[in-house]
Amino acid sequence: MKQKIVAGNWKMNKNLKEAKELIKGIKKEVKAGLKDNTRVIIAPSFVNLQSAVKKTKKSIVEVAAQNMHQAKSGAYTGEVSADMLTNLGIGIVILGHSERREYFAETDELLAKKVDAALGNGLEVVFCFGESLEDRRSGNHFEIVENQLKKALFHLQKENFKDIILAYEPVWAIGTGETASPEQAQEIHAFVRELFTKEYGDETANAISILYGGSVKPANAKEIFSKPDVDGGLIGGAALNAEDFAAIIKSI
Ligand code: PGA
Repeated sequence: MKQKIVAGNWKMNKNLKEAKELIKGIKKEVKAGLKDNTRVIIAPSFVNLQSAVKKTKKSIVEVAAQNMHQAKSGAYTGEVSADMLTNLGIGIVILGHSERREYFAETDELLAKKVDAALGNGLEVVFCFGESLEDRRSGNHFEIVENQLKKALFHLQKENFKDIILAYEPVWAIGTGETASPEQAQEIHAFVRELFTKEYGDETANAISILYGGSVKPANAKEIFSKPDVDGGLIGGAALNAEDFAAIIKSI
């Protein structure tokens, strides 16, 4: 079933003490007033995951990792495996964020492997995709998005998509204060759903949640979320403040 989801990507922010405080604030804010099928996810850094799982245990807040390595285990200094995450009680991992693609050279081919490893270990994946400013200006955004999804996800079986959440994040709108207009977001989301209809059929296309990410704030969330194919948001900067994050959640 298609779900409403608000996920906070904390990136490389918040030490342990700050992470605990933020979780406390979020729990207090979101206790009441959520629609039944709304999910709230937070993605702290690796070192704070264990504490986050513990602190969110009795709440509706779910915890995700921001990345993971595709190998089962081995000599990969500094990396974290899917098994290490599930063993901590983590059920979700974000893959393909544009910052991973840009600063850590993650390609769609590599992401296909990471997706397989995540699903194989029972993790749910928030898969990020989106075009750069250059692509948008040259009118290639539909093609770029289609290619990213095809290369990283379209080797999967229909059944796998119950564990995939999509997040459209136009790179030009991430952390820039510039947001895609609700119409621009809807246009791509509808295009993506259509791609899924062609590849996997209506049932899969209509069941998959497609989040929008890129400078979502309390002031613009409601309008973006009101679009029919926008099922929620992946929030960066505004997820670092409990009141702002809660206000975004409540605008779903
Ligand atoms: P932003 O980040 O909300 O700060 O633009 C979104 C993201 O990168 O997921």
